[in-house]
Amino acid sequence: MDNNPRSLFHELVEQIEIGVIILDDELRVMTWNRFISERSGRPLEQARGKPFVDVFPEANGEHFVKVVKLARERAKHVYSHWLDNLPLVKLSSDSDEHERQLQSTLFFPFEAANGERCFGLLMYDTNAVAKTSEHLETALKALNHKQSEQEQLLRKLETANSQLLQSEKLAAIGQLAAGVAHEINNPIGYVFSNLKSLDGYVRALLKITDAVDSATDLDELRQLKRDLEYDYIRGDVEALINESEDGIDRVKRIISALKDFSHIEEEEFRPADLHRGLDTTLNVVNNELKYKAEVVKEYGVLAEVECIPSQINQVVMNLLVNAAHAIEQFGRITLRTGSDGVWAWIEVEDTGKGIDAKTLNRIFEPFFTTKPVGKGTGLGLALSYSIVQKHNGRIEVDSAPGLGTRFRVWLPVRQPDSVAQQDATTA
Ligand SMILES: Nc1ncnc2c1ncn2[C@@H]1O[C@H](COP(=O)(O)OP(=O)(O)OP(=O)(O)O)[C@@H](O)[C@H]1O
Ligand SMILES: [Mg+2]
Repeated sequence: MDNNPRSLFHELVEQIEIGVIILDDELRVMTWNRFISERSGRPLEQARGKPFVDVFPEANGEHFVKVVKLARERAKHVYSHWLDNLPLVKLSSDSDEHERQLQSTLFFPFEAANGERCFGLLMYDTNAVAKTSEHLETALKALNHKQSEQEQLLRKLETANSQLLQSEKLAAIGQLAAGVAHEINNPIGYVFSNLKSLDGYVRALLKITDAVDSATDLDELRQLKRDLEYDYIRGDVEALINESEDGIDRVKRIISALKDFSHIEEEEFRPADLHRGLDTTLNVVNNELKYKAEVVKEYGVLAEVECIPSQINQVVMNLLVNAAHAIEQFGRITLRTGSDGVWAWIEVEDTGKGIDAKTLNRIFEPFFTTKPVGKGTGLGLALSYSIVQKHNGRIEVDSAPGLGTRFRVWLPVRQPDSVAQQDATTA
């Protein structure tokens, strides 16, 4: 075997599955390898010395001119990728698809041993590569398809989720409406029946009054009064009117609490001094508190808190009134405040009867009350809860039966929206 490096290179070029053509400076064919002879079907002897574009007329185009120009100017190799360019010359492919010949080419100048400039032209059959790439593309398409399917599913889920939320809201509204109906039904019921009784009483009283004109003597009138149970009527009328007033008052309270529910979004958030609000509220409810408790204020240091002040006052009022109601004889209500800079809190602590674990689970439910029928609406804490929620805050309760209760309302010092806005303007 000939181990001369030159002939080794020659063997390699002859056997490699890459087309190799060498052109002279005038772009005439000097030589090519076996791959070109086989794939082009042209014998080298007939092509030698002839212009490359005469041997391969299909190469005679804009692309080849450009490649040659680039290679000459830059004295560097010029690569053409099969994806960007049609095949330079027609070669048969070793793949099944004979009609498709895909080619990448490398065209480069080099200097021969005698100092003359030549050009090398290498051609790769890239059908196999193309196939792989085709497979990859199909796989990619399938993946994309899967992804868009998943995105569609996600969108469906989102819609379903928002529908669910909507129906949950509707259910909550339904529950509230049912509660309102139930709560209002009772007082309206007895006010109505009281009105009927009063109607009977008024008729009887009118009869007695009318009899004054026709009566012949006082005894007759006295008899009529006895017959119509005047004394009983007299006693009952006052009770009926008082009870009816109570009933109407109760309906009024429920309606005003409901109004507060529906008006939660109306007022504007603004930075406010919570301590001022607490003092005002204490003044308002003082009448309810003074016979039940001594009120101790333990105010901390508070910056202004971004809130809807009237609504926060309402929350504090509900907590204070509840605290007073929880105290049986006489106790103490402590009103505390504090802040860690980001959150501010208000605490209402009482020495009242406390709340057992079972009740504790329900105190924020609309219309849940442990007060005697006709006394509480059960809306105080529910309303407070939704107000605090609107403020992006939270309410904590700590209670033990017999020992008292502590409610703590946490409020962000600045509302998340305005924090974002502020950051955006300072950024
Ligand atoms: N400080 C407290 N101590 C003990 N129990 C409390 C306290 N605060 C609330 N509760 C319990 O929670 C229930 C619900 O309170 P909520 O304020 O919502 O309604 P209510 O006070 O019963 O009625 P309303 O506020 O309309 O007068 C009360 O009935 C009571 O059982
Ligand atoms: Mg209450």
